[in-house]
Amino acid sequence: MRRKLAAGNWKMNGTAASLAELEALKALMPENAPDVLICPPAPLLFRANEAARATGIQIGAQDCHAQNSGAFTGDISAAMIADTGASHVIVGHSERREAYEEHDSDVRKKAKAAWAAGLTAVICIGESADNHSANNTLDIIAGQLAGSLPDGMTATNTVIAYEPIWAIGTGKVPTLEQIVEVHDFIRGKIISRFGAEIGDMIPLLYGGSVKPDNAAMIFKAENVDGALVGGASLKAADFAPIISALA
Ligand code: G3P
Repeated sequence: MRRKLAAGNWKMNGTAASLAELEALKALMPENAPDVLICPPAPLLFRANEAARATGIQIGAQDCHAQNSGAFTGDISAAMIADTGASHVIVGHSERREAYEEHDSDVRKKAKAAWAAGLTAVICIGESADNHSANNTLDIIAGQLAGSLPDGMTATNTVIAYEPIWAIGTGKVPTLEQIVEVHDFIRGKIISRFGAEIGDMIPLLYGGSVKPDNAAMIFKAENVDGALVGGASLKAADFAPIISALA
């Protein structure tokens, strides 16, 4: 039985005061809630872990460097993230692939660094609007899976998030049929590369304009095991109904 995960990516939003949302979220979550992960900005990681301790909510970072330490001004390593008490790190988010020209090979190295630090890597993939319109989605996804997933993936060290770039922050969401097609494709690819024992157990998240009013539709897909949520994860009142739809 695959674990379900509702993950929130706060991106570059929030201050220490925002951590009050964690307790508020706990109060609104159903008893049978799936795993819940919040990825706040890096300066909040230590405090977020403290604030989340009594809630059962897990804390993750939004990116890491591929190296463990060194002269990389402004960067943070996976080991530093683990030191805060965090359990996960997002790697390969399309905003980093686009704004920082991160390629599959960078994402693969970061995922390995995450594993070496004992973190679960949330590896993001997704096609652009142009590739979507040109019907190239599955080719792009196949390439990103081949390039971004390192050898050595286990049933527990990785979560894969499919986030079509054109759906992020736009209010546009693929149809259920499109979500099913891509998630089934991803499942097939990881089973054929890593074997069913691993490939069947990796949670696949959908991300891109997930909101309280479309979450139930998205979670109908058999190979959608949860969501990676941006804007609607910032406020407990918005994220809680998404969590409930997954429960
Ligand atoms: O990582 C989550 C994300 O990119 C989706 O953002 O705001 O469309 O839910 P949003």
